[in-house]
This record gives sequence, structure tokens and C-alpha cells, in this order.
Amino acid sequence: MSETLWLVVPAAGQGRRMGAEIPKQYLSIDGRPVLAHTLARLYQAFPASRLCLCLDIEGSSFDPAWVPFAGWRRVTGGAERVDSVIHALEAIAGEAADDDLVLVHDAARPCVTVDDLQRLVTCLADDPVGGLLATRVADTMKRDDGEGRVAATQPRSDLWHALTPQGFRYGLLRRALRHARAGGIAVTDEASAVEALGLSPQLVPGRRDNLKITHPEDLALAALVLSAQAAIPSTKTTIQPC
Ligand code: CTP
Ligand code: MG
Repeated sequence: MSETLWLVVPAAGQGRRMGAEIPKQYLSIDGRPVLAHTLARLYQAFPASRLCLCLDIEGSSFDPAWVPFAGWRRVTGGAERVDSVIHALEAIAGEAADDDLVLVHDAARPCVTVDDLQRLVTCLADDPVGGLLATRVADTMKRDDGEGRVAATQPRSDLWHALTPQGFRYGLLRRALRHARAGGIAVTDEASAVEALGLSPQLVPGRRDNLKITHPEDLALAALVLSAQAAIPSTKTTIQPC
């Protein structure tokens, strides 16, 4: 494994689908902002890692007291998530080595577990490409016809939900995101940028409760997940080691 583990946490979104008065990363679960929960999980798993946090320009709702890491920095986010991540990678350019592992984790995923975080890093230790936490699709998948009716049922046996963190070597990730942006390739995660280079990231099976708070009902769901995880910290899943 590389000497330095970097964490990039994009937290500069506006949370439009949530529709709250403040961005969703600042909404409270059990008296603590979502972002603080997320950072606490990351710190528990990797206390010695280096954090780069992408914040919105105002950042007015942000409190540095939420950051448990000793060495960390903030950067201003960009228009899209990928722009925020690129800002972070540019900011650490002088310090990160090309083969350092960088984990990118959405601020809006506070329910990621320490087990999943550490297993991802173990699975990626010798992987030449990198990879991501992911879960197999469980529901039957329908494609719509644009008018609210079913056009087709999609085979789901090879479909996965892409979660975060997604972990790649610094040099490869920077090249992939720059390539995607320069080529106008729409990427909503790091893996798709790496895929656009013709590479195949590793799918590391993760827990299904690593949900991304996106819509209003997700906040209550995340609160329930966090309290269930706290009550039964060693909940076993069917996840296989890599
Ligand atoms: N993000 C970011 N910079 C952006 C857009 C998103 O750092 N320009 C972050 C968000 O803060 C979030 C993560 O990327 O932690 C995942 O994005 P998403 O769930 O889409 O969050 P938002 O963009 O805030 O939500 P929405 O798309 O509903 O507006
Ligand atoms: Mg978004």
C-alpha cells in the first residue's frame, strides 16, 4: 500500500433534490450535521489519512470543529461534483505522489461503515486500476418509454449500484478526470472517468445501508440506519472478502 492515504470529500453541492433551506450536508441527524457524521466515520477508519474537503463558496453553515483530522485542508467546490473533486486533486498536487491511494467519498453518505471502508482499502491495495464500493441490484429493473409506461425489463444479473468511497491512485485519477472534462464526457463518479480511459475498476461488494441522502425521506432513513448500526455495531452481512 502507498505511504499516504488521501481522502477527498465533496461537500459543495446544493442539495436541489432534497429541497431544504440549506444544503443537505448541513442538515442535522441526532443533533449533528450529516457532514460531521460522515467525517467521524472516515476518521474512525483512517485516523492518519490526509483530508481534502470541498465546500461551497459561502460555506457559511460549515464549522471546522466538525473535522476530527489533524492534517486537513479545504478547497472551494466547482459547478459539478467532478469539478469539486478536480479542485481537491489540484490542491494536493504538490504533496500527493502518483501512486498514493485517494478515496473519494460523498459527504451525503454518513452511513458508510468502518468495516466497508477498511475492506475497500484492503481490496485495492494491489489493484492496478482501483475500484469502488458497490451493491448488486436487487429489484427488477424497468426501462421507461418516456411516457410513464414500461418499454422493457432489463436483465439485472450484472447490474450494480455504484456507492462511495471510490479509490484510485492519485496520478490515474487526475488523468482520468481531466480527460473526461476535456472530452466533455459526463461523469457522475470517479469510476466512470477511469472507465472512459478503457480501464475496468474493481467492484468491491459493500453494505446496502450505505445510502446517499438525496431525497427528503432519506434523512429519516439515514437516522434509522445510524441508530441501528450504533445499537448492533457488528451486524453481519453476506459480504465476501475480496
Ligand atoms: N457535490 C460537490 N460539488 C458539486 C456537486 C455535488 O461537492 N458541485 C457533492 C455533494 O455535496 C454530495 C456529493 O457531491 O456530497 C454527491 O452529490 P449529490 O448527491 O448529487 O449532491 P447535490 O449535488 O448536493 O444534490 P442535488 O444533485 O440533488 O442538487
Ligand atoms: Mg448533484
